[in-house]
Amino acid sequence: MKEQLEKIYKSACEELKNVNSTSEIDELRNKYLSRKGELNEIKKNLKNLSDEDKRIIGSLANEISEKLSNELKIKFDEFYTKELNEKLVKDRIDITLPGKFTREGKVHPITSTTDEIVSILQGLGFSVVPAIHSPEVETEYYNFDMLNFPPDHPAKDMQDTFYTTVAPNVILRSQTSGAQIHAMEGKNPPIRVISPGRVYRNEEVNARKNNFFHQIEGLYVDKGVTFGDLKGVLNEFIRIYFGSSRPTRFRSSYFPFTEPSAEVDVQCIMCEGKGCRTCSGTGWLEVLGAGMVDPNVLKGVGIDPDVYSGFAFGMGVERLAMLKYAIDDIRLFFNDDERFLNQF
Ligand code: DAH
Repeated sequence: MKEQLEKIYKSACEELKNVNSTSEIDELRNKYLSRKGELNEIKKNLKNLSDEDKRIIGSLANEISEKLSNELKIKFDEFYTKELNEKLVKDRIDITLPGKFTREGKVHPITSTTDEIVSILQGLGFSVVPAIHSPEVETEYYNFDMLNFPPDHPAKDMQDTFYTTVAPNVILRSQTSGAQIHAMEGKNPPIRVISPGRVYRNEEVNARKNNFFHQIEGLYVDKGVTFGDLKGVLNEFIRIYFGSSRPTRFRSSYFPFTEPSAEVDVQCIMCEGKGCRTCSGTGWLEVLGAGMVDPNVLKGVGIDPDVYSGFAFGMGVERLAMLKYAIDDIRLFFNDDERFLNQF
């Protein structure tokens, strides 16, 4: 048996000299060292030997297994490194090849203007309402009725508002002011929120009007809110958005849901106030409507107007963007002309 063991070892060593790959080494390991391998077959027959021979042959068999497995391992590592290096050379990536050109996306100017306005107003203490409180498909109830529009108000006419076929009172909202009602319903002041979004109007499209555009609604309700607070917030907003140099003016106006109401104009950027086509010769451009929340609106949502007061405002995003970047046609924002969009 001793000779048999030595013969096995010798022929294993001989075969090992001729291997050329890790897989061939695996085969050898199987042939000699696995459970059904040649060395194990011998170990299985030990039981027929005398105790003395069992000890001698047993330990020789173990010694040979160990030696062989070490030698296999050394050879295996050698081939493994060699094969890996060959693979690395073969699979090398040519990093000097020019990459595929993908065009870079840009944030749309209306989105970036909205983000900028929102961030200024957040800095002044307002938080954005959840989108669910600011739906684009709205009911007349939120868009008009709760905002103190009388039932026969001309804005409700088919001329201005897009009605849907869903139900007679379901419309595409014509203003973001309905978000005021959603924001106040079931809540207690202080409420200080903004709500950006798209609005729709059945208008003839021209350089100054589109049949959809974007607004940012603002609302602040608390004890003791005054028109002075409204002016303070809006003046500060305009100072940050345009820089301190642009003249502005508050002009008295009318909205059903505010009393008193105002419109804020910014000096026309095209003509520096001299009067041109863009500002219809007035030298001013209107950028937002605002006012003190009408007591009827507060009452409608269960807030006591004898205890609380508030102000609201609604800004036109396109207007503000046009004024800042001297754009004289609102349609440029929406006709997907890359020469225009790439400038932002
Ligand atoms: N919703 C008005 C519009 O679309 C703008 C507006 C005016 C909003 C006065 C307000 C406000 O919140 O107080 O013309």
